[in-house]
Amino acid sequence: MTLSLKPMTTTSFVTEVVNVDLSQPVDAATASALRAAINQHSILVFRGQTIDNDQHVAFSRNFGDLEIHTVKQYLLPDYPEIIALANRGENGTTPIDNGGAYWHTDISYKAKPPMGSLLYSLEVPPEGGDTLYADMYAAYDALSDAMKENLEGLRAVHGYEARFSRMGEGGKRPKLSAEQLAEVPEVTHPIVRTHPESGRKALYVNEGFTLGVEGLPLDEGRDLLDALNAHATQPQFIYAHHWRAGDLVFWDNRATMHCATDYDTRYARTMHRTTIQGDIPV
Ligand code: SIN
Repeated sequence: MTLSLKPMTTTSFVTEVVNVDLSQPVDAATASALRAAINQHSILVFRGQTIDNDQHVAFSRNFGDLEIHTVKQYLLPDYPEIIALANRGENGTTPIDNGGAYWHTDISYKAKPPMGSLLYSLEVPPEGGDTLYADMYAAYDALSDAMKENLEGLRAVHGYEARFSRMGEGGKRPKLSAEQLAEVPEVTHPIVRTHPESGRKALYVNEGFTLGVEGLPLDEGRDLLDALNAHATQPQFIYAHHWRAGDLVFWDNRATMHCATDYDTRYARTMHRTTIQGDIPV
């Protein structure tokens, strides 16, 4: 099948896939065309979808095994592959107003961080609650040659605990348990990673989970990370996705970071995310 693609940005960053119905199984040729598309575009948008949890999981599995998130209170009871980002909770999950409201790349704090995520919107507020995405290839390309050289070989430290306790849920969020902490020891990843499929270089740091730079004093490392995060979140690198119910957005975590935005929490916002396992960044 030939994909029908409709660019959503003036660069190749985001494209809508117009002719795939995610409620139906996709054949091998379509899955491979979608894989090529995500490697080329970083963000694929599918609109007007009506899928159930089985279909969401089945579609996601075309791209790899699925990650089960460390924080089990957000996972749908019968679908541990799905994290419910639902401000009213769902089937007993803990309500979460705006869990991803800071720049991050999903689960970058694991030794093998996910290659991609697929976020499906069931209920959205009439305004607000957009998700911002940063193009980390473009951010890398725009660095000066001196900065690119400076970053060569540098590794950043990524961790989850500090972010998890800072996010809070109004201060009510419990600390990570000893068992959860054992799942997420701090790890290091190259600050510039080479995408394993496209071969392109992308910045791989994020405000959410990157804590310091290996071998640099804490302040110096933090200053460098702050400068890189400020650079990568300039408007020219950002796409803002305004959600409609029935959108599914598939993003490449190896070349993007994202940030949820505020909305009026009198309205329901219910999103389901699956996350595809990835490999060790190089
Ligand atoms: C996420 O951070 O994965 C979810 C973003 C959102 O809720 O908009």
